[in-house]
Amino acid sequence: MNRMWGMRRFEIGPSVSRDVLYRDLAASLASLLEGETDALANLANASALLAQALERINWCGFYLLRGGGLVLGPFQGKPACVRIPAGKGVCGTAAARKETVLVPDVNVFPGHIACDAASRSEIVVPIVENGELRGVLDIDSPDLARFDAVDREGLEGFVRTLVPLVRWSALIT
Ligand code: SME
Repeated sequence: MNRMWGMRRFEIGPSVSRDVLYRDLAASLASLLEGETDALANLANASALLAQALERINWCGFYLLRGGGLVLGPFQGKPACVRIPAGKGVCGTAAARKETVLVPDVNVFPGHIACDAASRSEIVVPIVENGELRGVLDIDSPDLARFDAVDREGLEGFVRTLVPLVRWSALIT
């Protein structure tokens, strides 16, 4: 499948290895967000880009650090829980640790917060700017063990590309 986002085109399919997919995805993100300073619009487009590019996912989006907890931000998928306290669920755990949390089976993760009953596995990548937590990127899959080390590395790279392209101060309270 050929798709065009911004000025870049890349292919999605079995012929493209996932590390190449993630590399191209980060480049597409940079191209898509280039020149735009509206933080909300940029996160909305970042979530839409991920939803279009990644297979076997049912939810992807952002939770933002607001008032000491996580609050739902731009996303693609079913309506989701709005507030996640620090340290709770997969998102709150990744936020508290400032580390990616990869959950092969959400049913055996203590304290997992079920927003979409279809979700079976999940990955949450913290968003950290100059050492400060800004929020998390959360992606759910209807398949068990959908995410592995390649996804972790690719999505951490995606977030590294995203961080300088978003004016987080406009979103964080
Ligand atoms: N499962 C997450 C909650 C957010 S939804 O998946 C969109 C968690 O346990 O933090």
